[in-house]
Amino acid sequence: MREKNDSSIRKAVFPAAGLGTRFLPATKASPKEMLPLVDKPLIQYGVEEAVASGMDEVIIITGRGKRAIEDHFDISFELEYELKEKNKLKLLAEVERISNMVHFSYIRQKKALGLGHAVLCSEPSVDGEPFAVILSDDIIDAKTPATRQLMDVYEKYRSPVVAICEVPRETVSSYGIIDAIEVERGVYQVREMVEKPSAEKAPSNLAIIGRYVLTPDIFDHLKQTRPGKGGEIQLTDGLQGLMKERPVYACRFRGVRYDAGDKLGFLKATVEYALKNQSLGGEFRKYLQGLNLK
Ligand code: G1P
Repeated sequence: MREKNDSSIRKAVFPAAGLGTRFLPATKASPKEMLPLVDKPLIQYGVEEAVASGMDEVIIITGRGKRAIEDHFDISFELEYELKEKNKLKLLAEVERISNMVHFSYIRQKKALGLGHAVLCSEPSVDGEPFAVILSDDIIDAKTPATRQLMDVYEKYRSPVVAICEVPRETVSSYGIIDAIEVERGVYQVREMVEKPSAEKAPSNLAIIGRYVLTPDIFDHLKQTRPGKGGEIQLTDGLQGLMKERPVYACRFRGVRYDAGDKLGFLKATVEYALKNQSLGGEFRKYLQGLNLK
């Protein structure tokens, strides 16, 4: 057991109660977090990133219609039995690995009141420690896991860190956008952050991407945060409040990000990940080359 005042980060919160409206009708009765990217659901990529970053506890904020997520990370008695009987040991090992990766716990968010509210729901489990937040529809392909990169910045500055990347100006209204000064290569101190501003009002084109390292004092601010953009309690607004008390940093992570919660972003991620897949990549490349696209 680690001490409470040991400030290393070992818990990752996964908000997963959202309605997935950008991916309807696929997400009408199935969680968007369970959409398969090649052969694994989106949320598994996030959980693997958390584990590779050194986390030992994953806290998933779920809602109605999301039970498939819990089943995915649980043991699957019948399946494991069948695989054993049929001597499919490689598959068995893969299936067993999923439930053994890390300790999972679940909290129900009764109403989809926004990302800030989802994070607030994790307060009892976070229990006064600094923690990471991972949005599983942002898939980040990186040599050093993106969450680990943020943790490294946190360990140096001891204050909250958000992941950022540059986005085209015309898309800023889909993101939290920051105004910031660079304090070292790829690390910024945030001056202001605005949730989904119009292109005219955006202070920059540096967008927040779904990775955060937060400190437990965010909860007091989230409790005071009134509904903002879209009538939702926004994490961006909570962080803007926290910034009056302590600095907040941004890390321009090294890696490629896919917005897999969006149909086009999901297709791009699927093609790229399929091409890189050891057993499928070669055939798939040949297939694409044979399409003779104009
Ligand atoms: C959320 C955040 C936003 C951030 C984005 C990254 O928005 O509210 O600040 O830029 O994730 O993916 P959402 O995409 O859930 O609307």
